[in-house]
Amino acid sequence: MKKFYITTPIYYINAAPHIGHAYTTIAADVLNRFLRARGRATHFLTGTDEHGAKIEQAAREAGVGPQDYADQVSDKFRALWTRLDIRYDDFIRTTEPRHKQRVQATFQKLLDSGDIYKGNYKGYYCLSDETFWTETEAPESGGRRLCPNPDCRRPLQLVKEESYFFRLSKYQKSLLEHYEKNPQFLSPAHRAPEILNFVRAGLQDISVSRNKVKWGIPAPSDPEHTVYVWFDALLNYVSAVDGPEFARIWPADVHIVGKEIYRFHTVIWPAMLLALQLPLPRQVFAHGWWTVDGQKMSKSKGNFVDPDEILREFGVDAFRYFLMRDIPFGHDGDFSRQSLLKRYNADLANDLGNLVSRVADMVDKFLNGDLPGKSVPEKDRFRQLIAQKTTAIDQSLERLDFTGALTQIWTVVGELNQYVNEQAPWKLAKTEPERVKDVLFDLVWSLRIVAGWIEPFMPQTSAKIHSQLGVRQFPAPLSAEQVLAGVQTGTGRISKGPPLFPRKA
Ligand code: ME8
Repeated sequence: MKKFYITTPIYYINAAPHIGHAYTTIAADVLNRFLRARGRATHFLTGTDEHGAKIEQAAREAGVGPQDYADQVSDKFRALWTRLDIRYDDFIRTTEPRHKQRVQATFQKLLDSGDIYKGNYKGYYCLSDETFWTETEAPESGGRRLCPNPDCRRPLQLVKEESYFFRLSKYQKSLLEHYEKNPQFLSPAHRAPEILNFVRAGLQDISVSRNKVKWGIPAPSDPEHTVYVWFDALLNYVSAVDGPEFARIWPADVHIVGKEIYRFHTVIWPAMLLALQLPLPRQVFAHGWWTVDGQKMSKSKGNFVDPDEILREFGVDAFRYFLMRDIPFGHDGDFSRQSLLKRYNADLANDLGNLVSRVADMVDKFLNGDLPGKSVPEKDRFRQLIAQKTTAIDQSLERLDFTGALTQIWTVVGELNQYVNEQAPWKLAKTEPERVKDVLFDLVWSLRIVAGWIEPFMPQTSAKIHSQLGVRQFPAPLSAEQVLAGVQTGTGRISKGPPLFPRKA
């Protein structure tokens, strides 16, 4: 069976990872965990993008050679992913031999087929975005030309050099046909018009080599030239799965990327694949852009949010939860400690954490930690609701609607809290000791299912809830039919643990 192939961008190593990188990688991890738990075979790739003028410059500023520099920073990414509970299958670095070989072989192949040819380039280059711009795209104003990307606007360099070109113009028609036949390719749908307009306006061949940049993969048979960093980087998605497994993994099922690199992934990349006669990815999904306290993150402002600071204060699960919950995936959002704190106290400490503690505590107190073995929850209210949400949550996650899935889960958490308050088991324990068993059974049965739902988002919390609620081994997620049939969700002893999310000020 083909594996479901999920990728993140490979990140530049000119600076340490920040919250933006964490965002994409956590989203990919949530999707991957969700699919795996449901028995799907998956392959999850992330990595680092290590060549190009920008890295060359960053290494020079740091006073180390580019490879040493790349080794150090790439390690920081990997170590952060471990702390964030990211379970990738493969981590690719563009300085690895497996990648370099593939890039050189590809370059040669396209040179042989005539899709790459030699010419002269004159235009403008943005070092920060590693992007070429034309005179018309970046008109002069006040004696300068600035990067047209509204999030960049840095001064451009004039580049006049001998260069290799990729025949992008040749693929305009095929690309438009592909978008039309595969509407999910350009996701989410609100991002499609930008790409359609761009491609319909006509495509120009692009420069795919630099002869002033030394830190790069040499063009085969013309080593004065190095391969343009984007041509190099995009190929990571295939070089990583080269080998006997290729046909089981390629094409990618979803490339998850930030909106600023959407065009590279939806125009240049599929055109390269068409030239290579390889199948195109099923979907490219662009998420939005995080600002911090209303401002763009930048070196000059020094306002990059360090994920480790958040981890120290709030823990990994709260961080993962916040990023996936606060902003619908695909839209822009703003990060602030205040909004994280608010969600932490309201959604996690109060709604979920308190509920688990109260329920476990009551089972401990009123039933000696031993839940009577009843197989069907008493109230149809929960079976129906949970069966319906099981389907809805699955559908949301298939669409990468992480916020939608969490919102549905919290609806159920809200219902359970309301049930505790209505039933007041602490009163029932005195007046109707038999009823208290039924009420607590309903609550525990439902909460165990909730714990399974949150596993992709908050793996540690999910395990803690399972353990407090007597589920000894991580269970396979229940289907809506199993929920309706009221299957047993656990049998072990129940006891309250330390608070899942202690309140914070
Ligand atoms: O572009 N908000 O690498 P990069 C949301 N190497 N996501 C953000 C973000 C923010 N403020 N900042 C960064 C590159 N990201 C290339 C990619 S792929 C073949 C080559 C995330 O280090 C988001 O996923 O600049 C964005 O696309 C990516 O980091 C850019 O990382």
